[in-house]
Amino acid sequence: MRHEGGLGAGREREPSVKVEVHVRPGDAQRALRAEVLAGLCVNGRLKELSPKWLYDERGSQLFDEITRLSEYYPTRREREILEAHARDIARASGADTLLELGSGSSEKTRLLLDAMRSTGRLRRFVPFDVSEAFLRQAAGAVAREYPGLLVHAVVGDFERHLGQLPRGGRRLVAFLGGTIGNLKPAERARFYAELSAGLRQGDGLLLGTDLLKCRQRLFAAYNDGAGVTAEFNRNVLKVLNRELGADFEPEAFEHLAPFDEENGWVEMRLISTRPQAVRLPALERHVNFAEGEVLRTEVSCKFRPEQVEAELAEAGLRLTERWTDAAGDFALSLALKR
Ligand SMILES: C[S@@+](CC[C@H](N)C(=O)[O-])C[C@H]1O[C@@H](n2cnc3c(N)ncnc32)[C@H](O)[C@@H]1O
Repeated sequence: MRHEGGLGAGREREPSVKVEVHVRPGDAQRALRAEVLAGLCVNGRLKELSPKWLYDERGSQLFDEITRLSEYYPTRREREILEAHARDIARASGADTLLELGSGSSEKTRLLLDAMRSTGRLRRFVPFDVSEAFLRQAAGAVAREYPGLLVHAVVGDFERHLGQLPRGGRRLVAFLGGTIGNLKPAERARFYAELSAGLRQGDGLLLGTDLLKCRQRLFAAYNDGAGVTAEFNRNVLKVLNRELGADFEPEAFEHLAPFDEENGWVEMRLISTRPQAVRLPALERHVNFAEGEVLRTEVSCKFRPEQVEAELAEAGLRLTERWTDAAGDFALSLALKR
């Protein structure tokens, strides 16, 4: 682990951000190589990568663009709930520390920070994300906007480093944006259990979940007319080219994100438009794609509210309140560690 004085060190009037790094570039490279070997290079298996590789700096910027698209309702719906209930959340949690997993731009999070500040208890903000450059910028922006707030950014993988979340104080862990839906059921159960094991009695989890709805709206949200989601999806191929010296031609893959009724998830796919062999020099391999063959880059599970409650309870997290937007598209659940 690497600790740094942070962004502001040495620069006048720049507030200092403490940065703790659990994912160094070398670790990320090793993890990517292992995943590509297991996920792309085994003949006869569905090709698949973890969604975390979508989020290099460019991918994080593209995701931010997605959140402003008219078709992409989840961000607006979650903000609507936070605008109505951030004060209730701040009061009910009683927290002085806000940890945010998969924090991205932390844009909506300001509503929570404002509400927690108004209780007089807010002391510390811990944004936690795997995308280092974007996290550093986002954490710096929050530190500038909230003078006096301790900003302690953590570069980490929420599937590996939950045990190393900063301790102390009364903590509220926010996991927004429906990112929990990127974990399949078994991964989700592991995630909740690990998170819960590291929380103290009275600490809270604020969880944003996208709710099941008609497949047309789900389809539109992940297949936007302007093609921003397609560019976001194809960006992962550029990540593989840069990190592994691969020679993917992004334009030789089509983006498609259908809803899988049986699994209850939207599935982001890159579909090979022709038979092709792609070189992976860093692995001394190549990978063959048949015409129409799918590379799955993300699943995004959609939930029923009772399902969320039951999964949290299984991990010892008791639901205290749940809010939805007026249209019933999205839910925020507050659960406390028993
Ligand atoms: C769907 S975006 C949500 C961003 C923001 N929370 C929001 O609500 O708009 C997912 C975020 O989680 C981060 N992320 C994805 N996988 C991760 C992982 N395994 N560990 C830590 N962060 C991850 C991405 O870098 C990205 O910032």
